[in-house]
Amino acid sequence: MTTHATSAIQVASRVHGFSYAIRNIVAEARKVEAAGTRVRYLNIGDPIPFGFKTPQNLLDAVERAMRDGVNGYTSSPGIESAREAVADDFTARGLEIPADRVLLTMGTSEGIELTLSALVDPGEDVLVPVPTYPLYTAVLAKLGANAVYYRTDPTNNWMPDLDHIKKLIGPNTRALVMINPNNPTGAVYSDETRREMLELANRHGLLLLADEVYADLAYDGPVSPIGSLDPDAPVVSYSSLSKAYLAPGWRAGWMAVGTSQRLDDLLAAIKKLADGRLCSTAPMQAAITAALRDDRSHQDTFRTELRQRAELTTARLNAIDGMSCVEPTAAFYAMPRVSLPPGKTDEDYVLGLLRSTGVLCVHGSGFGLPPGDGFMRVVFLANPKELGEIYDLMASFTKEFLAS
Ligand SMILES: Cc1ncc(COP(=O)(O)O)c(C=O)c1O
Repeated sequence: MTTHATSAIQVASRVHGFSYAIRNIVAEARKVEAAGTRVRYLNIGDPIPFGFKTPQNLLDAVERAMRDGVNGYTSSPGIESAREAVADDFTARGLEIPADRVLLTMGTSEGIELTLSALVDPGEDVLVPVPTYPLYTAVLAKLGANAVYYRTDPTNNWMPDLDHIKKLIGPNTRALVMINPNNPTGAVYSDETRREMLELANRHGLLLLADEVYADLAYDGPVSPIGSLDPDAPVVSYSSLSKAYLAPGWRAGWMAVGTSQRLDDLLAAIKKLADGRLCSTAPMQAAITAALRDDRSHQDTFRTELRQRAELTTARLNAIDGMSCVEPTAAFYAMPRVSLPPGKTDEDYVLGLLRSTGVLCVHGSGFGLPPGDGFMRVVFLANPKELGEIYDLMASFTKEFLAS
């Protein structure tokens, strides 16, 4: 007879729907490493392991805050001065947001999770781009809600397929997620596309979640917040210090709830849920003020370096027989496609590449794409010399893989 003392503690069924390919695939990489192969981790969008440095003024701000005793809990939406800095930054970018509609969060991630938790009930639908950033599907799985994928089109520079979005909107739909600039595709959407997305959200009473964490990393310069195109639209915008301010481990982010009265109840609900987690990391809130008030010329250099890597990546990957890649115009991701032999999946390619060369990418199906389509995401933060070596390895592996 099994006794309670020996049987495993059962986990909740919601965990089965939760997957995070970007992290999960690391388990495979560790095995390859243990067998003695050097692994090149191109699976996660973190500039720090690649030698990029957090700006000194941010480090100083955190150190000062800690020494000045900013080590207790803050109010749950965050320190007033930092919320004001966020509000002023939005205003400078063309969208007036009062500080009382800003919350400081543990990264963009927490803002998104708070919003979806405050918005959707089990069984409701949220429109999410495919390929997607997996946080959305993971959080929706936890909430028992449905991620409904709308296409973004590689033959049209990965722009959202607006007709597909229109077809998917139904009585159960609550929200539309827009990631712009985009991870994993590196695309930047035109104002015309963004206006149409706003129009759809307005017309159908959907919340538009605007994931704008890469707004400052478009190579042609910062992208304005989508809410600036229509301040009355039901938009919540998210960003953080993780990417454009090179401090992902600080978990310091913010969200701004648009000024439309239609969002007042949602804002109150989000604040209520935010009370439950007390506050985001206090000394890092001080860095948000420094980031948004001080000089940010480090971004010019970062953008230039990213553009060079994007060009190198596209040129090298497109030169591989059987591979094609749309040129990214923002951030540090590319989404090449390999024409798979019949019966093979994107995961077969990615795991084969890892085991034979140590190069770790993430298969497109980890971002919601069909496994047979042959997409994968490459993070191109390594220096150009190392990227050259990596693409040599990819070229020789691809030749073998396609011949097999
Ligand atoms: C599109 C997108 N949204 C959100 C996040 C999470 O960022 P944060 O570190 O601000 O939580 C990432 C991180 O890679 C991302 O790419």
